[in-house]
Amino acid sequence: MTTNRPRCSHLPTTAAGIAALLVAGFAALLLASAVAAGAEPLVATSVCEAHELRALQEKDPDLAIQIPKEFDTPWPSRDACLSHEAALDEDTPGLVQPIPFSHKHHAGKFKIDCQYCHSGTDESAIAGVPSVELCMGCHSQFPASYDELSGIRTLKEHWENQEPIEWLQVHRLPEHVQFRHNRHLQADPPVECKECHGLVEEYDKVFVLEDTKWWPWGLPTRTLEMGWCIQCHREKKASQDCYTCHY
Ligand code: HEC
Ligand code: HEC
Ligand code: HEC
Ligand code: HEC
Ligand code: HEC
Repeated sequence: MTTNRPRCSHLPTTAAGIAALLVAGFAALLLASAVAAGAEPLVATSVCEAHELRALQEKDPDLAIQIPKEFDTPWPSRDACLSHEAALDEDTPGLVQPIPFSHKHHAGKFKIDCQYCHSGTDESAIAGVPSVELCMGCHSQFPASYDELSGIRTLKEHWENQEPIEWLQVHRLPEHVQFRHNRHLQADPPVECKECHGLVEEYDKVFVLEDTKWWPWGLPTRTLEMGWCIQCHREKKASQDCYTCHY
């Protein structure tokens, strides 16, 4: 279910996280029977923690770390762990979604084409969001070690229960406005995704951008305001007729 989102597996990316990890490390140490005197290793309790410990050790080669065998795998990658954490973070701009899905990770690092997931964009009015099936096309092939990410567990639960994911809508125009993705993507030259949505591939969460083109007038607007649509229609010589956008 989307309501009981599993707890996130915290990474020691914050000072508090590192402190917690230290505590966990020392607790584990008490249990460990034979440890060389003086070297008190920090013990990883997940693949993501293992990545962070290795990174800490790179900065401080004297740091003793211990990676249990089951967590000694490159997958999920450190970037995947960090993006997952960022997408779960309330402080990252944007809504916390039922699954902490990161565009920075999928569209940025792995360069998955926008329209592979938003396949209706050039043909229909709406862009739409991908189905659970499409996600699973890739994720069913991933090793089990990915299950430590709460987002992957939630994804698989939805797949097993055949339930759609209730993504929260980020962009929403009022009912009286008519917007069509296809008209923009079929324009000559096409209006690119980034002209309206910004560099989505650089963000862990999608959010409605501020329209910086209005800054010269000292009037920042949120995109999706009428002035923003008109401004571009004027520049690109597209229709400014009221009935183009209003029924
Ligand atoms: C074309 C293949 C592909 C598709 C489709 C895909 N993913 Fe991924 N996903 C990946 C890869 C590759 C990674 C990262 C692997 C790594 O770096 O360890 C990843 C990582 C993730 C992660 C962890 C990082 C993060 O973004 O938080 C989550 C959660 C995730 N995917 C959810 C989804 C969901 C939900 C969908 C469907 C909307 C989806 N994925 C569709 C390939 C895919
Ligand atoms: C692997 C699949 C995948 C890829 C690739 C992908 N997206 Fe998405 N996109 C999603 C999912 C899932 C959501 C819903 C969750 C969210 O908002 O993050 C979404 C949401 C969005 C939204 C917000 C929708 C709303 O509710 O307003 C925009 C805008 C968007 N994507 C644009 C893009 C652009 C631009 C690209 C290419 C740079 C892209 N996406 C690539 C899966 C994908
Ligand atoms: C001319 C500006 C513009 C361009 C170009 C554009 N979008 Fe959008 N997008 C919007 C607006 C406006 C909305 C809100 C639509 C609504 O509420 O009816 C939106 C909504 C969305 C949504 C939410 C689902 C939906 O259809 O309402 C997704 C996903 C999305 N866009 C993805 C994309 C992708 C991917 C591209 C490029 C292939 C793209 N957009 C190109 C302006 C644009
Ligand atoms: C970044 C530039 C840009 C932005 C922003 C933009 N548009 Fe457009 N729009 C265009 C272009 C270019 C065309 C012309 C397509 C053509 O002539 O084939 C167009 C065409 C359209 C059409 C179809 C017009 C027709 O003749 O059928 C509608 C409807 C529309 N836009 C609505 C909107 C709305 C509503 C918004 C704001 C939410 C918006 N547009 C924002 C560039 C933009
Ligand atoms: C290119 C698209 C576009 C065109 C052309 C356009 N509008 Fe709009 N209009 C919008 C959008 C998007 C909104 C909703 C966002 C907002 O309220 O700023 C809107 C909102 C409005 C509202 C409601 C404002 C409110 O505060 O709720 C009125 C009234 C309106 N438009 C009148 C007009 C008139 C009159 C014209 C012709 C002179 C016109 N529009 C042309 C896109 C357009």
